[in-house]
Amino acid sequence: MANVIKELISEKDVDEKIRILGEQISKDYEGKEVHLICVLKGSIFFTCELAKHISVPVTLDFMSVSSYGNEKNSSGVVRIVKDLDENIEGKEVIVIEDIVDTGRTLSYLLQLLQERHPKSLALCTLLDKPERRTHEVEVDYTGFQIPDEFVVGYGLDYAQKYRNLPYIGVLTEE
Ligand code: IMP
Ligand code: MG
Repeated sequence: MANVIKELISEKDVDEKIRILGEQISKDYEGKEVHLICVLKGSIFFTCELAKHISVPVTLDFMSVSSYGNEKNSSGVVRIVKDLDENIEGKEVIVIEDIVDTGRTLSYLLQLLQERHPKSLALCTLLDKPERRTHEVEVDYTGFQIPDEFVVGYGLDYAQKYRNLPYIGVLTEE
């Protein structure tokens, strides 16, 4: 069987939405500085592009978590693979995610970061699959709500592949 990718959100629409999100964040944080936390690896493309559209001062840090599970489903047990380099205490933190699916990874991560006393903690996700939610998470900025389909591209992978696609596509096997 071969993997087939059908375009769901075009490159133009993704780029446009990220620009809008960047402008919204710039407005909401006017007069402040934002500390973006990129959750590796899926959020890397989104974080870089978003940061370019934020007009208030931006600092960046990276975190890598792994939720045990197979390639298409996370198990909910989250392990920190790479922790942040910097202390977030007193900072206006925005966690940048590629996708909120069940919400398990994020609900764990946000709780962990909250315990480090940032001044504020917000969540910005490129994609949201609300139908799949099992764990409540408050999302402050959403790019697109999508149906319950497995998607790749713009950072999202299937078995580490397809992250580099400049659009979002649904992965199917034919
Ligand atoms: P959650 O803990 O179920 O919300 O899982 C979030 C993580 O699962 C994301 O950060 C992705 O790495 C992965 N994931 C969930 N849905 C998809 C998808 O449609 N394509 C690729 N990865 C996905
Ligand atoms: Mg991920």
